[in-house]
Amino acid sequence: MGSRILGWGTALPDKVVTNSDLEKTLDTSDEWIVERSGIRERRIGDSTAELAIAAGRQALEKAGVDPASIDLLILATTTPDQTVPATSAHVQAELGLGGGAFDLNAACSGFVYGLVTADALLDAGAERILLIGAETLSRITDWEDRNTAVLFGDGGGALVLERVADEGQLLASDLGLDGNARNILKSEVGGTIEMDGREVFKRAVRAMVDSANRTLERAKVSADDVQLIVPHQANIRIIQAACDRLGIARDRAAIVLDRTGNTSSASIPLALVDAIENRRLHDGDLVLLTGFGAGMTWGSALLRWQEPESSSTKITSTSKAPPSAAASKND
Ligand code: ACO
Repeated sequence: MGSRILGWGTALPDKVVTNSDLEKTLDTSDEWIVERSGIRERRIGDSTAELAIAAGRQALEKAGVDPASIDLLILATTTPDQTVPATSAHVQAELGLGGGAFDLNAACSGFVYGLVTADALLDAGAERILLIGAETLSRITDWEDRNTAVLFGDGGGALVLERVADEGQLLASDLGLDGNARNILKSEVGGTIEMDGREVFKRAVRAMVDSANRTLERAKVSADDVQLIVPHQANIRIIQAACDRLGIARDRAAIVLDRTGNTSSASIPLALVDAIENRRLHDGDLVLLTGFGAGMTWGSALLRWQEPESSSTKITSTSKAPPSAAASKND
């Protein structure tokens, strides 16, 4: 069994905060921020649930599936609206989803962790999963700290995934964590983000490249076969360094950070959906998602793109595919 993407959606708050806006309150400049990070503006506002609901609703509509037919909601977030209950409870109720729901915190790798988890649960018998990455990092940003305030933004992105009887679109993946580096990027309960930027930068490039290479090896393909890389959107220089080391041309990277800043769990789906909607993907293309984040976590996933319009499984029935159709992944 495998999984297939049926629909996608995104959400960004209305309020745009440009680098020039930040110049008014911080000792910084548009020139420094663009040169050091690639970010020009970010969106600020709404709650994590509101962004998740908007992105999730769009994905369900695009997929054309009944919300009640969703078996499970996975909400990747580092910025839940409450400690208890999980923000996914609010999203599940508002969208009228069937089945269970849980929040997943793997920082900026959260969406890839969620994708791999969803694929495994579909393989284990779930029929349809809504995967959302949504964040309101503006709520845990110290707006007086120029080292971090210029980097983050709010947003959400979502995918509807459905079980298929063949291998599906997720060809290989790699998830990891080095908990010894947990203090280089953190936010205490009720606090704001504290970060050793240079250390994160160094480790981020290494983590993404090693994880992406492991994923390519597992799928038995090379970097040359990758049509699009969708990296975590933290810093354009991290993305360029990772592309160069992987041997993937920089123009094959999906980029939205200039407009969104770093939106943690939402960054990969925002960049993926931007690429889909700008028609950068065609049937059969290999898409490499790769991210890193606080923890330090990392995660990569290789997808074979398939237009959902050509899906034979875009149905709302809950009938299960025959077990005999199961296919093993990778090896
Ligand atoms: N405006 C102007 N100057 C600034 C700013 C600013 N906003 N921020 C820092 N500076 C100054 C520093 O104080 C320093 O000054 P000094 O030399 O007098 O001490 C100088 O600029 C250079 O600082 P560096 O830290 O060396 O700058 P660098 O080129 O490394 O860029 C940055 C900093 C953008 C933070 C970079 O290190 C980075 O992107 N790191 C990774 C951050 C990241 O990816 N975080 C997210 C991870 S995942 C998650 O968030 C959940």
